[in-house]
Amino acid sequence: METTASASSKAILFGEHAVVYGYPSVAVPLPEIRANAKIKDIKRKKVIIDMPDFGKTGVFKELAWEHPIRFAVDLFLSGHKITLQNGLCLSLHSEIPIASGMGSGAAISTAVFKALFAHFNIPYTAKKLSELVFEVEKLHHGTPSGIDNTVIAYEQAVLFRKDEEIQRINFPKTIHLVIANSGFTTPTKTTVSDVAWLYENNSTSVTDTFAQIEQCVILGLEALLLGDLEKAGEMMTENHQLLRSLTVSNERLDQLVDAANSFGAYGAKLSGGGRGGIVIALTEAEHVPFLKHTLLNAGAEACYSTKIGSE
Ligand code: MEV
Repeated sequence: METTASASSKAILFGEHAVVYGYPSVAVPLPEIRANAKIKDIKRKKVIIDMPDFGKTGVFKELAWEHPIRFAVDLFLSGHKITLQNGLCLSLHSEIPIASGMGSGAAISTAVFKALFAHFNIPYTAKKLSELVFEVEKLHHGTPSGIDNTVIAYEQAVLFRKDEEIQRINFPKTIHLVIANSGFTTPTKTTVSDVAWLYENNSTSVTDTFAQIEQCVILGLEALLLGDLEKAGEMMTENHQLLRSLTVSNERLDQLVDAANSFGAYGAKLSGGGRGGIVIALTEAEHVPFLKHTLLNAGAEACYSTKIGSE
């Protein structure tokens, strides 16, 4: 038997970092860029992990217990009291750049859990899936807010706030985003702990920044729901400046944001953990190819585009 599953990547439109402290944040799935998992029964009584993208193929038990794939599979099997009768080969292939703000880790775990549920014929809900992925996220990111596992497991645009029910967002008008990968990476854990350091040492001013980010989230989302792209873009750029003041931008990301805005995008910002990874820019459909070109010229390593919401 063979089962396959996949999971989308994601982008945060507003509110990263502040979301770790209980502020709201808006995230969207990027369905075009995905992580894929395949599970096949094999004769050898072993679990084989085949991860060519990560330069690894080998026996599952030889991976460290805290390896995210091993941890996810162990969590699934023990949680469902499954003892393997046959061997399995778990193959993973991901199109999502690693440590780039696109939720690569959460997407890979989501694809693995979906494939396991399908393989063992166990029904599940998006909530259950999200909770499982969150366990893997906690192991690797320290204090994740839960936004990545939520937007990816539900594969749904969400207004997210820690410990609250998620609010699904349906955009009335199609939104066109260009996503530029800076080619630099910094683990989310690093930028999150740097913001924590700032917060501990300067809590009044950081709290004030978080409150201003919250305003960007509220006004930006409201503008998107009203189809006011100019205002939404303005809030994205302001959100970027606030992230910059939290030290999670860098020169390349600032250059990409400036290039997008000089081109005439409605607005642009870094997305995700920052200090590398992606910049997202809001634009009109007919400008997408030119904006991509502009961002590649401004130093982006790769550019993607996506459409969010209905036509
Ligand atoms: C990472 O995609 C978003 C951050 O806000 C971290 C988190 O929410 O866990 C930087």
